Amino acid sequence: MRLPGTLPRLFGSLLLVAAAGIAGIGAGAAPADLTPTVPPLGQVVPAPASVQAGGAPYTLTPSTRIRVDGHSPEARRIGTYLAGLLRPSTGYALPVTDDHLPGGIQLRLRPSEQGLGDEGYRLQSSRGSVTLTARRPAGLFRAVQTLRQLLPASVEKDTRQKGPWKIAGGTITDTPRYGYRGAMLDVSRHFFTVGQVKRYIDQLALYKINKLHLHLSDDQGWRIAIDSLPRLATYGGSTQVGGGPGGYYTKKDYKEILGYAASRYLEVVPEIDMPGHTNAALASYAELNCSGIAPPLYTGTDVGFSSLCVPKAVTYDFVDDVVRELAALTPGRYLHIGGDEAHSTSHADYVAFMDKAQAAVGKYGKTVVGWHQLTGASPVAGAVAQYWGLDDTSDAEKAQVAKAAQNGTKLILSPADRVYLDMKYTKDTPLGLDWAGLVEVDRSYDWDPGAYLPGVPASVVAGVEAPLWSETISTSDHIEFMAFPRVLGVAELGWSPASTHDWEQYRVRLAAQGPRMAALGIDYYRSPKVPWPTG
Ligand code: ACM
Repeated sequence: MRLPGTLPRLFGSLLLVAAAGIAGIGAGAAPADLTPTVPPLGQVVPAPASVQAGGAPYTLTPSTRIRVDGHSPEARRIGTYLAGLLRPSTGYALPVTDDHLPGGIQLRLRPSEQGLGDEGYRLQSSRGSVTLTARRPAGLFRAVQTLRQLLPASVEKDTRQKGPWKIAGGTITDTPRYGYRGAMLDVSRHFFTVGQVKRYIDQLALYKINKLHLHLSDDQGWRIAIDSLPRLATYGGSTQVGGGPGGYYTKKDYKEILGYAASRYLEVVPEIDMPGHTNAALASYAELNCSGIAPPLYTGTDVGFSSLCVPKAVTYDFVDDVVRELAALTPGRYLHIGGDEAHSTSHADYVAFMDKAQAAVGKYGKTVVGWHQLTGASPVAGAVAQYWGLDDTSDAEKAQVAKAAQNGTKLILSPADRVYLDMKYTKDTPLGLDWAGLVEVDRSYDWDPGAYLPGVPASVVAGVEAPLWSETISTSDHIEFMAFPRVLGVAELGWSPASTHDWEQYRVRLAAQGPRMAALGIDYYRSPKVPWPTG
């Protein structure tokens, strides 16, 4: 399904002028002669930490080579990935070599470059070469995303395009503000296939997102095979919102997602939501219910009506089985146990349950993440709370989160009225919900995670995450229309220094991503707040 968007034609012709102004160098020839526009150095989302434009551009040619450090299989793999991105549109062979000769596109790992951290990089572009330097492979991978964005948008197409393929001259030195820059996909309300998840991973990687949170269970569906409790997936996963067939990931499927995410340097954060949001589990195993009677499967969109039976011992056998198997599958450090909207669990039961669930996560060597209601229980040392409140969340609830933060609980910020990607952009948005309000592109960008919640020390903010709940979302087109372009703003909040934060400049850089997203087949929302080019 193609969704309607508003194209602000009036602003288009201003774009090239404005974009060129950012980095102070020319934006290339006008589109009229079909010569692709060379993005100015720094016309990148998320904004790099430091941009020094200058000198002659680098030009890709049919004889360009991608030169990688010979001793690193990961550098070679990243070089091969880059070649795979550039070959279809340029039509060049772009061999990946470790011949140690100068020139071409150089990918270098330099562990001694402490200042570049785990994900930082330096990109140096001049007439003779483009050199990407990083301390770790993840940094090289992030550098490749910047390199892509410095080439004309048509480089993203999968058929041969006309060059020239130039990269503006100068140096970018770039490290992220936050280590946690996430996107969440709710695969429970509607199930998404491995292929759909991979497509989203590729799109997120372009903007340096480094966590994919998968909401694997909810009232409407259980989506991950658990060998010791097979009915969770085979029965609990057999439907979805609206009553479709649902689905679930076998362990093999899930490992395929993990491997793909790892190849794009995203860590998968699995979530099993408990003790509420558990109807699919309760329907699968009658003994999990206090009544001993299994409820029917649920295909509606209400929340807050289900709860695991906190006093029953069998509940903790379930928690142990699920957490053990999920932890064993998970290469990442986090395991998310939900904990939101437990409206059918008494407070005392909630606290008792969250104690036991957190202990299970610790037992299997993972770090607890929970929605911020966890701060109303007893977060264990090292736990991370994901804040999903609104501007008008009560002061008492915000103070509870702040108190936990002052006691060392780290925070991931996902304020629903800023970064919930399932909120409608305007009242006319054909998909999405509006319980947290309407969230236009400027609103999702224009806030500071470092100074967002009163009383929260900036040092406990681990980062930001943009959740996409899927009550109304069931296809890749839907994902893309709701996530893009808002997720770019969240990526920038997570990566770029606070000093670069400026909506007026951001909207121009964002506009320049329009043709790139279009070339990738992303059916993004043409927000009238953004001066998209018309060409
Ligand atoms: C949530 O939106 N219930 C975390």
